[in-house]
Amino acid sequence: MNNEIPKPPRPDDICPRPDKPVVQTTQPMAPAIYPTSVWMCNDTNQADDLLARKLDGYIYQRDGHPNADAFAEKVAALHVADCVAVTSSGMAALSLAALSQLVPGDHVVVGKQLYGRSLLLLTQELNRLGITSTLVDTCDLDATRAATTSATKLVVVETIGNPCLNVADIAALAEIAHGQDAKLLVDNTFATPVLCRPLELGADFVLESVSKMMNGHSDVMLGVLCGREQDWDRVPMALAAWGLASSPFDAWLAVRGLATMHLRVERACETAQRVADALCGEGSVEHVDYPGLPNHFQHDLATKQFGGSYGAIVTFRLAGGRSAADAFIAAAKRIPFCPSLGEATTTLSHPESTSHRGLSSAEREVLGISGGTIRLSIGLESTDFVITAIQEALTAA
Ligand SMILES: Cc1ncc(COP(=O)(O)O)c(C=O)c1O
Repeated sequence: MNNEIPKPPRPDDICPRPDKPVVQTTQPMAPAIYPTSVWMCNDTNQADDLLARKLDGYIYQRDGHPNADAFAEKVAALHVADCVAVTSSGMAALSLAALSQLVPGDHVVVGKQLYGRSLLLLTQELNRLGITSTLVDTCDLDATRAATTSATKLVVVETIGNPCLNVADIAALAEIAHGQDAKLLVDNTFATPVLCRPLELGADFVLESVSKMMNGHSDVMLGVLCGREQDWDRVPMALAAWGLASSPFDAWLAVRGLATMHLRVERACETAQRVADALCGEGSVEHVDYPGLPNHFQHDLATKQFGGSYGAIVTFRLAGGRSAADAFIAAAKRIPFCPSLGEATTTLSHPESTSHRGLSSAEREVLGISGGTIRLSIGLESTDFVITAIQEALTAA
């Protein structure tokens, strides 16, 4: 008879062991988060097939994970895209487009109204890799056509530009790009798929900074690149090899944010239109940029392309320049100075000291930015709250 008392298992042989798989008879209503960095393989053949992408499945988070796939599936449906890559930021989505589509000797036509960091990437960073670029006002279609050459592989524009809210004529720009066998890449961050689906208008790639309106809660850093099957060959490998992939938690939060995107964007657009109208009647405001205003130089194009909503961003110029802007920002107690956009809260930014600080004052002037330019990102408060908060600040400044 063996009277030996069984030894209790050692904690270090229990705690680090993987959990048993959860067998579910019912489905959770909220999606699960899979923070795992790696997945276990059954055998060498399976590992081989997974890594060669012959078998669908996960093996290493940087190559793909269920939370990115869940988000990508929804974005693909929203943008009517064959393929979507989820990246660690909007800038990573732009890097992915460049790194997967361009080689040394290629040329890129870059809209001069692009987000500052995008300009930096597409001009200075790509130049280090032997890719040249030409900056052009992409609202001027003749100038854009003239800037494309037989070496041009990408034309890059934003659906709604920052901060003066110029609108890209996507169908016309696609025609120009395709005339040189180049691809049109549209940054749709200011529009979101609620206002615009650039692929349907002829664009080849769309990117979104999900960190903004698509998530909408100031708690995610994420991007997406969307495109078509025939342009996608190099994208998954570039995503994995350059390490541009997303985190599961951010992708999970983005799925949650996306559930209310259409409601948030509609609400913010309605208030933004009312704010733009109200600012036009203010004596200290010398100019208002909003595509929803009938006097905006691209109002008709915006109406045709966006179907009657014009975005959540309103930009205005104070007659008193930088000192007036400083006084307005100090007086705007209920509107945080927050150099991003697309939050649930209405926020303001000052392009001269933030997004466009790297430009000379002459370059800013060409873009319509002065020291008195304020960019508002309209949030989800009541319209009365937002208008009163702005008017209070204008009066106190
Ligand atoms: C229009 C636009 N595109 C891209 C980006 C970059 O996105 P992210 O901050 O997610 O890298 C930004 C960020 O401000 C942006 O405004």
